[in-house]
Amino acid sequence: MNGLLQKIEDRSARVVVIGIGYVGLPLVVELARAGFRVTGYDKDPTKVRMLGLGESYIGDISSGDLKPLVDAGRLRASTDPEVLRAADAVIVCVPTPLNKTKDPDMRFIASASDEIAERQHPNMLIVLESTTYPGTTREVLVPKLCHGKYALGKDVFIAFSPERVDPGNARFRTRNTPKVIGGMTPACLEATRALYGTIIENLVPVSSTDAAEMVKLLENTFRAVNIGLVNEVALMSRRLGVDVWEVIRAAATKPFGFMPFYPGPGLGGHCIPIDPLYLSWRMRTLKYQARFIDLADTINSAMPGEVVALVQEALNGHRKSVSGSKILLSGIAYKKDVADYRESPAFDVIDGLHRLGAQVDYVDRRVPEVEEGGHTLKSVSTGVDYGRYDAVVIVTDHSDVDYPRMLREAKIVVDTRDALRAVEGDKSKVVRL
Ligand SMILES: NC(=O)c1ccc[n+]([C@@H]2O[C@H](COP(=O)([O-])OP(=O)(O)OC[C@H]3O[C@@H](n4cnc5c(N)ncnc54)[C@H](O)[C@@H]3O)[C@@H](O)[C@H]2O)c1
Repeated sequence: MNGLLQKIEDRSARVVVIGIGYVGLPLVVELARAGFRVTGYDKDPTKVRMLGLGESYIGDISSGDLKPLVDAGRLRASTDPEVLRAADAVIVCVPTPLNKTKDPDMRFIASASDEIAERQHPNMLIVLESTTYPGTTREVLVPKLCHGKYALGKDVFIAFSPERVDPGNARFRTRNTPKVIGGMTPACLEATRALYGTIIENLVPVSSTDAAEMVKLLENTFRAVNIGLVNEVALMSRRLGVDVWEVIRAAATKPFGFMPFYPGPGLGGHCIPIDPLYLSWRMRTLKYQARFIDLADTINSAMPGEVVALVQEALNGHRKSVSGSKILLSGIAYKKDVADYRESPAFDVIDGLHRLGAQVDYVDRRVPEVEEGGHTLKSVSTGVDYGRYDAVVIVTDHSDVDYPRMLREAKIVVDTRDALRAVEGDKSKVVRL
């Protein structure tokens, strides 16, 4: 243990991050900046090649951040798991998706753990960052890594620390976002605190890995449930003839006891639509139904269908059917000003419109093309004439869209984000959520 702490202290510790995607890439940058020799190990040869060249593939990290660290020999990438042999600390940032039945898909965590176990040596720190159900570190990592001569807290140190990266957030980055850490033993926590203390300003230790895993699920369930609530408030407000956006903005002036969430076309990204289902799955194994999560999932999953119904209603007002209409989606990314389209609700909106016989295009400057369901879709030019379409649907409210032109040219705009609120023009053609 002391040898490991000393290596962290004098920065001679070798760090390997498994998975250099949205979570792993910012982490390798901070660790290399702190003076460690860092290797990003990933199965994806494109990411490894680009990182090796100092070229970024993620919006929040610039090539200018990477290149000097690569050139200085502090940061490199590899597709070879053998890099794990020399590691003193390994941080696991692999995906945790759902399988077809919406249950946790643990294949990535399991295979990363196996790869570490095959190359393990004494005095190694292993931290899991992937979002997962409470109990994962204890039940999946520990049995694989604490075998034979490896005693937990003596020869191997295991911890969980949830990632809190918020893509597109320029104010809170890796360094200034407080980080929760939970160790399997006090020594595991101490080693984790020593490593992360070199790159994070504010650490929040908790009593166990289970507690740390649950913290992340509380944070993301909190968002999913509140978005579900506000989506239902939007549906109720429409029926009451009340402007939900006005209501939320007015409520948000209360200086205590209220936090605004905004409705939209449905959840997207790798976190909010998925993580709470890890918890509800875990609870089902304990014969407990996570009712808030299930209800929020039901409401949020129905939102793309509500958007399709709005398009139908708006076209009806012009004596047109969806069948045969040409519809343009403005934005396909799951959230404003990012290029990430994983789990984007846009795909369910497109699917719903296709089923009703519409011809659908999308425009998104950040996402020139997408692979979805075995098909490749390509964005139309951002200079598109909105008037060529029977309706335009704002799915993602990217800030660099020319909304005044859209309002001038489009025949109908279905605005699921209240993006046109401040735009002057003929609002009679705008239908809002
Ligand atoms: N993206 C976010 O905003 C965010 C925020 C907080 C938490 N998380 C969580 O962090 C974890 C990672 O998410 P991400 O968005 O970075 O995913 P990602 O898909 O961007 O990156 C994961 C990488 O892991 C690699 N990988 C998978 N299995 C591997 C293996 N066995 N060995 C080596 N490489 C392997 C993949 O090739 C991929 O490049 C997930 O659990 C996610 O829920 C994500």
